[in-house]
Amino acid sequence: MSTEAKVASHYTHGSLETTILSALSASGKDIEHLNIADLAGIDEFHLGRHEATVQFARDLDLTEGMRLVDIGSGLGGPARYFASNHGCIVHGIDLTDEFVNVANALTKRCDMSSEVHFQQASALALPFGDASFDRATLIHVGMNIENKAAVFAEIRRVLRPGGLFGLYEVMKMRDSALLYPMPWAMTSETSFVEPPEVYRRLLNEAGFTVDFEEDRSALALRLAQEMRASAASGTQQMLSLGALMGASAAERVANVTMSVQNGLLAPVEMIAVAG
Ligand SMILES: C[S@@+](CC[C@H](N)C(=O)[O-])C[C@H]1O[C@@H](n2cnc3c(N)ncnc32)[C@H](O)[C@@H]1O
Repeated sequence: MSTEAKVASHYTHGSLETTILSALSASGKDIEHLNIADLAGIDEFHLGRHEATVQFARDLDLTEGMRLVDIGSGLGGPARYFASNHGCIVHGIDLTDEFVNVANALTKRCDMSSEVHFQQASALALPFGDASFDRATLIHVGMNIENKAAVFAEIRRVLRPGGLFGLYEVMKMRDSALLYPMPWAMTSETSFVEPPEVYRRLLNEAGFTVDFEEDRSALALRLAQEMRASAASGTQQMLSLGALMGASAAERVANVTMSVQNGLLAPVEMIAVAG
């Protein structure tokens, strides 16, 4: 099995749409007319969740009508936010068929299909013409991709000169073995976490200039603490990303949180300008 097939199988749930819709229905949502706030907590699969997306969008200087490609778009939470709050036209691509199907289904239920569309593709072969986007985003995806140089070359190709590429990735802050399972991989076989200096070098080699960099560990740790507190007080949401991750969710979330806490890993945002 190829690495990409293993990664897609890692993220495949099997009955994700039914699980999400049943939980939304049970919590009193009108599933025929959803809005993006109804999906809070389940459609953003990254550390710092929605708050991180909001800061990221601000740093990307998004404006009405911009064309944005979100690579590894998952269930589509960030893409719908970029469209609904900043007026972007968003194309998401993702390796995992089920995520693409559920992302499109949720977008339709939010009545946003004319601004946001998802399709199955690999980050290593983007199905778009040269210079077709103003912005590109990669949110917690590179940890599953060994050949980051090839991804950055593809992203440089589809961005117009002067366009911005925003990355928000889990990076390795010191040289030590990772503790598995992690949210993105059960073992090291499909995990390719790199330090910020490797990202910076590969971005430069692909024709980007890194303009901004920020470590979002404090935000990620605060949100993790808030989620633990709400679980302990019994006020946890009916459906959480943890529930979607299956049996090992608690261990996977605990491993990444502990690694951020002890400074081994950090969620780092970078904004790079296409030369
Ligand atoms: C941790 S999730 C993040 C999803 C989304 N960016 C978010 O923040 O909610 C990682 C996503 O990257 C996708 N992915 C991993 N490797 C990929 C590749 N080579 N090409 C496209 N998508 C990939 C996975 O299918 C998964 O949906």
